[in-house]
Amino acid sequence: MKVVSIVGARPQLVKLAPIAAAFAGTEHRHFIVHTGQHYDADLSDVFFAGLGIPDPDVHLGIGSGSHGVQTGAIMAALDPVLDTERPDWVLVYGDTNSTVAGALCAVKQHLPTAHLEAGLRSFNRRMPEEHNRILTDHAADLLLAPTEEAMRHLAAEGLATRSVLAGDVMVDVCLRIRDAVRAGEHPAPALPEGIDAGQPYLLATLHRAENTDDPRRLAALIAALADSPVPVALLAHPRLVARAAEQGLKLQQGAVHPGRPLNYAGMVAAVLGSAGVVTDSGGLQKEAYLLGRPCTTLRSETEWVETLVDDWNALVPDPADLDAAEWHRLVTRPAPTAPQGTPFGDGQAATRVVGLLEKGLGRSPSA
Ligand code: UD1
Repeated sequence: MKVVSIVGARPQLVKLAPIAAAFAGTEHRHFIVHTGQHYDADLSDVFFAGLGIPDPDVHLGIGSGSHGVQTGAIMAALDPVLDTERPDWVLVYGDTNSTVAGALCAVKQHLPTAHLEAGLRSFNRRMPEEHNRILTDHAADLLLAPTEEAMRHLAAEGLATRSVLAGDVMVDVCLRIRDAVRAGEHPAPALPEGIDAGQPYLLATLHRAENTDDPRRLAALIAALADSPVPVALLAHPRLVARAAEQGLKLQQGAVHPGRPLNYAGMVAAVLGSAGVVTDSGGLQKEAYLLGRPCTTLRSETEWVETLVDDWNALVPDPADLDAAEWHRLVTRPAPTAPQGTPFGDGQAATRVVGLLEKGLGRSPSA
């Protein structure tokens, strides 16, 4: 069996790692296409090196652009690659512009197409990720859902017959790296200047368009972080750095200590070392949950509703709605003591995905 994985953005590289490892133990040919949506070393190269992912077989080198331009450029560059490779499956990951571009190219060439992390919904139609997920799910032939909730969403959209509960591959990689970090197999992460790893700190990230692109909203979010009762290690995505610079907004304010994004092991270590997480990232909400740290999510909704149980995760649509004491209490709340379930699966999802692709060989495209 030949499988082409299409990736391009940081969270997809994290999901690719356990899939590539699962293929490595088989006779199958796993061919990796990197679209180049993320090109900074901090967002791409360090994940290949740090997670032991084989180099991409093809790099499309697309780079940044408006949604239409980026998606279209990926499709134009990908078409001849798929036409040459003619794989048994095309595997697309998550909800980025690389995902929807890959799925559209593949189904239009009648190549069986599987979507990993299918069925997530925020029900917020303004998010580019929501457009990407819905379009990809409706295009693909096999929908690999990470959770029961995702299966319900797919069924509600008439996609039940194409859906399978595969579990979440991010559990596979997160728990493996957690154990390696605990065993001292990774160097201590380079936290931003001003953060003392021996003292309580909050770990923060912000990169969603709805939070970074509106100057008033971004200023309010940074002001809330600045007013935190403990130092905040703000690992700044290039999008945040770019938007803040355009808006003349200083990220270094009050409690906030901005720094560079970390590689995956560094991120896991930084979460484990933190008192809690403040973020708008989907992946980090789940990692905080898996690593046992309370999370505050600066959004009005989350796709990962399982993390909300027992207040492991708290949604804050607008920190200005809280007074200072409420904000302080929220971001420094202790981890819940009730035992967690395993809503994201057992850490064996990648092997299951390979098995599901084997079983689905010969599946007629878009049946
Ligand atoms: C993309 C995904 C988002 C995912 C995120 C993870 C879409 C629509 N969004 O958002 O779902 O959570 O990746 O990081 O696909 N930039 C750089 N260097 C890079 C990449 C980006 O400087 O290597 C800057 C550029 O200013 C660029 C901006 O970040 O315009 C946005 O990059 P883009 O790839 O469009 O989306 P992300 O915000 O990274």
